[in-house]
Amino acid sequence: VRQPHVEGQGPLTTISADDLYYDPFDFEIDNDPYPVWRRLRDEAPLYYNERYEFYALSRYTDVAPALTDWQTYRSGKGSVLEVIRANIEIPPGVILFEDPPLHDIHRGLLARVFTPKRMSALEPKIREFTVRCLDPLVGAGTFDLIQQLGAQMPMRTIGFLLGIPESDQEAIRDRLDKGMNLEETSSEEMYGDGFLDGSMFAEYIDWRAKHPSDDLMTEMLNTEFEDETGTVRRLSREEILTYVTLLAGAGNETTTRLIGWTGKLLAEHPDQRREIARDRSLLPNAIEEILRFEAPSPIQARSVARDVELYGQTVPEGSIMTLLNASANRDERHFPDPDIFDIHRRIDRHLSFGYGIHFCLGASLARLEGRVALDELLNRWTDWDVDWGNAKLAHTSTARGWERLPVTLG
Ligand code: HEM
Repeated sequence: VRQPHVEGQGPLTTISADDLYYDPFDFEIDNDPYPVWRRLRDEAPLYYNERYEFYALSRYTDVAPALTDWQTYRSGKGSVLEVIRANIEIPPGVILFEDPPLHDIHRGLLARVFTPKRMSALEPKIREFTVRCLDPLVGAGTFDLIQQLGAQMPMRTIGFLLGIPESDQEAIRDRLDKGMNLEETSSEEMYGDGFLDGSMFAEYIDWRAKHPSDDLMTEMLNTEFEDETGTVRRLSREEILTYVTLLAGAGNETTTRLIGWTGKLLAEHPDQRREIARDRSLLPNAIEEILRFEAPSPIQARSVARDVELYGQTVPEGSIMTLLNASANRDERHFPDPDIFDIHRRIDRHLSFGYGIHFCLGASLARLEGRVALDELLNRWTDWDVDWGNAKLAHTSTARGWERLPVTLG
């Protein structure tokens, strides 16, 4: 069904045409989705994929308001395309997959322990973890930025925050990674198998209950709150398990990918890299531009709660809508020269951490980790390049970024 384009820029279609097909599970497309996303923005700003039965919005002016309109675009059936399609039961407390009022109660609880103060107090620890990763590499001609740093430091950080012993962190990260990797797990299996129920953390909770410390798990065990029935109570073991799994899942892979994109983009832009090396006050904005340019979590999915009129079409209640925040970040209608990477760019708001009630709870932590990682890299090397022959993108359900990124050091 082709309809006249509202802005006179050629035909508008909501139906996948042979020559315009967007498939988030197609590895070829995932390698470089930007040309397809640009065509979606220009030719099919409301797009429909028949194979997986989802709609997609790709322009900034559509994605940003939809992210804030939680009444229409709901997360309660999941905010990951495969989760909604698989129709799985979601345990209470996975705030990513909840709507108000439950979302607000559970997010409020998490926000009480996940405070900005606690995050900024973590900086020395994040630095220590980063230094431990990088110091042994000084003098080496090459190393893998993901394996040696990106996959290590965020895991140590979230593990420290939660109170998971270092000796067990790797096994947990492997399980989380495997659960989300489309090359190892089918999307149907992905969220089954106890992945969301917290079973992998059960023994720690019991151990922590007997050995309190100053970590999040202990604090959650002691937190009292008013639940949806108005009863003041403590969190149940199951609820804590869910929170811990959520934080470990949400806080690990995305930050790993941010560190990878940092290495890649600054390898490609040596002048900007050297500028940051000389003037570290540029670090925060550089991290924002990296986040804008390559969103580690590029697609947010929603269930549509009422019929919605968009571009002259009706999106029926019950449909799946994907909000392509990574495409919105490159929308030329919003960001001038969006495909130019510029650490000096003034960014009012990129959508890489979402927007509205589900705005990333770990954004300040992720930014801090990104800054420290880049700072410490530049303390040791101001020149690096990527060994492209051996680099590999990870194809995972919710994140986009490098699985292997070998860098050669100058
Ligand atoms: C939510 C991205 C790091 C915890 C989100 C959302 C995005 C996002 C896009 C919104 C999802 C939606 O609207 O459906 C990222 C990126 C990160 C990152 C790109 C790293 C660069 C972290 C870290 C943590 C974390 C380090 C915690 C340790 C969460 C939680 C939510 C969330 C708990 C759910 C918030 C809610 O539903 O109210 N994140 N995240 N994230 N993120 Fe992050």
